[in-house]
Formats: sequence, structure tokens, C-alpha cells
Amino acid sequence: MKSKRAEIINAFKAADGKTISGEDLGDQLGISRTMVCKYIKGLREDGYEIQSSPKKGYTLKSVPKLLYPEEILSGLNTTLFGKNIHYYDEAGSSNDIAKKLAPVVEEGTIIVVEQQTGGRGRLGRKWASPKGGIWFSIILKPKVALSAASRLTLTVGLSVTNTLIQYGIPARIKWPNDVLINGKKVCGILTEVEAEIDTIEFVIIGVGINANMSLKDIPEDLRENSTTLRDEIGKSIDRVDFLQKLLHEMEQQYIRFNTQPFGEILSDIVSLSDTVGRDVKVTMPNRIVEGKVVGISKSGALLLKKEDGEVEEIIAGRCIYSKK
Ligand code: BTN
Repeated sequence: MKSKRAEIINAFKAADGKTISGEDLGDQLGISRTMVCKYIKGLREDGYEIQSSPKKGYTLKSVPKLLYPEEILSGLNTTLFGKNIHYYDEAGSSNDIAKKLAPVVEEGTIIVVEQQTGGRGRLGRKWASPKGGIWFSIILKPKVALSAASRLTLTVGLSVTNTLIQYGIPARIKWPNDVLINGKKVCGILTEVEAEIDTIEFVIIGVGINANMSLKDIPEDLRENSTTLRDEIGKSIDRVDFLQKLLHEMEQQYIRFNTQPFGEILSDIVSLSDTVGRDVKVTMPNRIVEGKVVGISKSGALLLKKEDGEVEEIIAGRCIYSKK
């Protein structure tokens, strides 16, 4: 069911720049004029420019740049990714919505949320998702073994990094799931898999990009060496254009992922890696390992050379840099 807010936006769009009286709006929506005023106030707070003329009514002058499906679809250069969009002004977590939808929707379906109230990060952490960011999940149904899921996360990290580079932003990949600008985290990726024995039923890849917001929009306890695109480049980006470019890049990389040996993608990942060559500490549920990162294996694992010279493959864990 459409929200009253969406109904008001649609009524304005249908009016095509003409003035609508508060009474007409109230009648169309089945709400009082006081409630109409309340919704108009909320829309204005969100960047809608709505003029009010006494005795005449309201005129929509301009809309904020939101990630509306119609906006994303116009000019989207993909065949599968983002062709089916579920849009929410506000929701708990796009990954949770994606999980429910996955069994009944096509591969490539995306869930876009302007503001998440229950955004989730890796390892059970919270993910701050205020307005202005790019928070979305994509549903994939790759015909690969469960163990390939971590390679997909890295491949999406490569796609985000390549898209930022297209904008002239010097982004790098931090193993296993972050994208950094100037050493600070601008994007996190949360991959969740539904599988039967070893066969993947679907993969949900949640991508969170701190875009048109500033670090102070993130609660202090969640900032942890983060940054935002706006803080880094000093201006806002066109989020619709960014998401269109990113979906295109993700689809290209996904085609590669499904048709070529992973080594091809891996060499791109390694060349854009911020982690290879670093001294790190990796925290796993049962232990902590320290060493120098000497590479990333074909399975997407970190290759860590320990003090005793042994190179260990680390499949998953929290990676912290020991020195700059
Ligand atoms: C991390 O770095 O810990 C992963 C963060 C992933 C955040 C994104 S935002 C869209 C999607 N929905 C969520 O609840 N989380 C992911």
C-alpha cells in the first residue's frame, strides 16, 4: 500500500506544476486539511520545494534528488541488475527485505532504502544509515558453491572502487569488505547467503556508501575510521547517476565472475588493494593472528605471513592494520 506521503507526491506530479488546493488534496487522500499541512511540512523538511498561496493551495516547484525507481531506471545501462527495484523511503534493513523477497523475485532485483532504521554491518554490528547515503541490497542467484560467496563480496568491492575511480576519486579495497578513500572507510558490504548443503539458493549483497552526508551524521561510536564522499570531495554527488554507474559496473563484473576464472578479477582486486603489503591483526571468533599480508588467494582468502615465516590462509575475520 502506498504511503500518504507518496500519494501526495503523486498528486503533485499528476498536477504537473499546477496548484492544488489543500481541500482537494485532503479529499483525494481521505485525510483532513490539518493532516495535509503536516505532510507538506514534512516534505519541505525533506527538500521538496512547495509553494503555498493563500486561498489557492500548494504548488510543487522542485523535488529533491531521491533514488526513486523511475529516476534510476531512466538511463540505466544494464540488462539484469536494477531492472526490478523495490524502493523504501524508510525501512529497517534492505538486507532483511531482500531475504524475504529473494525466493520470489528475479536475480538482479534491488532494494533501495533512503534511510535505514536497523541497518546492519558485519559481525553483528550496527550500520548508521541516515538520509543522503546509498543503502541498497541486490539479490543474486549464482550457480556456484557456497565457498564462492566471499569472492563475490570482493568482486562487489572492486565494482564500488572502480565506480569511485570513474569519478576521479582514489578509492582502494580493504579486505574483506570495505572500500576506503584516503585510508578511511566510505563503503561497507554485507553478504548473506541462503544455501542448501553446498548449493547457493540466493546471495544478498548489501552495499552501504556514505555519500551525501557528513561524518557527524554518524553516531560517534560507529564512526571508527570512517569518512563520507561529501567530506572527501567537498561536494555532493548525483546519487542516481552514481547508482546507475555502479549497477552497470557490478553487472559487468558479475558476468566476468560467472564466465572467467576468478584469477582475472583477483588480479584487479590485488592491484587496487589497500591491504596487501600491510602488517595486520586479524580477529577470528576463536583466535587472533598477526602478520604481513602477502596476497589474496584464488578463494578470496587473505594470505598472511606470520612471524615464523608460515603463510596462513585466512578465510574470514576482522582485519585491523597494525602500522601505517
Ligand atoms: C560492514 O562494513 O560492516 C557492512 C555494512 C553494510 C551496510 C549495508 S547498507 C545496505 C545493506 N543493508 C544493511 O542493513 N546493511 C547493508
